[in-house]
Amino acid sequence: MHPSRRGFLGIGSAAFALAFTTNLADPRTAQARAAVKADYPFRLGVASGDPLPDRVILWTRLAPRPLEPLGGLPYNRIQVDWEIAEDEAFTRRVRHGSAWATPEYGHSVHVDAKGLRPGREYFYRFRAGGELSPVGRTKTAPAPRSSPDALRLAFASCASWQDGYYTAYRHLADENPDVVFHLGDYIYEYGIVPSGGTRNTPVPEQFRVQCDTLDRFRVQYGLYKSDPDLQAAHHRAPWIVTWDDHEVLDNWAGRYGPGGEVTEQDYLVIRANAFRAFWENMPVRVPEVRGPDARIYRRFTFGDLAEFNVLDTRQYRDDQVCGDGQQVDCAERLDPARQMIGAEQERWLLDGLGASRAKWNVLAQQVAMMQLDYDAGPAQRLSMDLWDGYRAAKDRLFTGMAERQVSNPVVLTGDIHYNLAGELRADFDDATTPPIGVEFVCTSVSSGGNGNASTGVPPGGSDPVNPHLRFSSYQRGYVSCEVTRGQWRSDFKVVPYVDRPGAPVSTRASLLTLDGAPGLHAL
Ligand SMILES: [Fe+2]
Repeated sequence: MHPSRRGFLGIGSAAFALAFTTNLADPRTAQARAAVKADYPFRLGVASGDPLPDRVILWTRLAPRPLEPLGGLPYNRIQVDWEIAEDEAFTRRVRHGSAWATPEYGHSVHVDAKGLRPGREYFYRFRAGGELSPVGRTKTAPAPRSSPDALRLAFASCASWQDGYYTAYRHLADENPDVVFHLGDYIYEYGIVPSGGTRNTPVPEQFRVQCDTLDRFRVQYGLYKSDPDLQAAHHRAPWIVTWDDHEVLDNWAGRYGPGGEVTEQDYLVIRANAFRAFWENMPVRVPEVRGPDARIYRRFTFGDLAEFNVLDTRQYRDDQVCGDGQQVDCAERLDPARQMIGAEQERWLLDGLGASRAKWNVLAQQVAMMQLDYDAGPAQRLSMDLWDGYRAAKDRLFTGMAERQVSNPVVLTGDIHYNLAGELRADFDDATTPPIGVEFVCTSVSSGGNGNASTGVPPGGSDPVNPHLRFSSYQRGYVSCEVTRGQWRSDFKVVPYVDRPGAPVSTRASLLTLDGAPGLHAL
């Protein structure tokens, strides 16, 4: 737990009321429009996400002063016009409309732009108070019955603002991927010192406290989303996002809060505020979040080439056992009743995998699924926050995939701030069992600071304690993938530093897995 965490006693009911109040007052739109004109309203940029063959979510949030409550806007609703076109100059406009940016939703706008053509590039923008937003590029998913030859995607996670610059996001943007997956820790809930940490960029005193109220979460997103490199990455491709722990609280698990002075009721209020702020700030097609429960697991199909199951491994899991650390000999982790994604999501996942006609079946999720032994010696030291702490759930998933003869399972993971590539095995302690799939873990964008070129912990490469691990590095960056009918190639892109802007990018390693032959090959 982070040392700056403070007590939450007493804030519960006020924060709860803020999250759920609905303003039915007659909007004073003229006043609101004037406030918008006083300053540029699109300082958080635009975004698109959750692409389907005929539609995509278009997002913006009006905030002329992103670090102030309600983004510096009055408590009024504001009309926002949107348009989407086939060309960047908007001469071939295909859809347009208007939406309300309402204060109850932090003046965010989610438009589901429908009637689009599959597998096509589009450009979109918004207008409010006479001001035009930046132009975003997006792309729809291929037609359901199509057989695409290729898909280019990137995935990333863990972007602590105060730990460094988002150079990795800038390089990711330059690749123009078809789609970007973000696997969580998009924000960190931690308080930020007024000097702004590694960035040395001053932030207001209010950022010193950890996120708890909806307003506090909103300004945290405002700070993060003010970053030009993050905006560039959103402006260049549709994103499909899920959350990990730091969108809420370090290592939260289901209905189990951090304990101590934070009561369960307080924790659920914080969780509700965190979920609501996530929903307001992300280009997601999920129901409006109205409380401490929110279903965000969902599925995306790219013709018969790839199907992506986007998981939530936080909200439905049992509490971490044995003190939630790296443990030797924790028998409780083997309890067959323990859930990682919950019975309902587990059924949804296996049903989907069983019905899939896709060549590549992807789990886009948060925490490492392959076994990771952190002890370089004969002892086995496993992390209780990862799938290793939920062994029965992992076994049920692997058995279920084998029974359904799932084609080419690929797991995409974040969380751990290491680049890793490994083979998944039914029994990780028996190196002779054949791989049943592969896992690629992306390092952090900025969390942890500069990093270094070492492999470090967990012991990497072909180390005998983790024989299924084919590659590891402790550097900052993201992973870029080219998926074709014959192979899946993952390029681990790294930047040498994040404590100042402008670092170059390079490919640290490239790993291949072939259709019908689970296992990894280094290029
Ligand atoms: Fe993280």
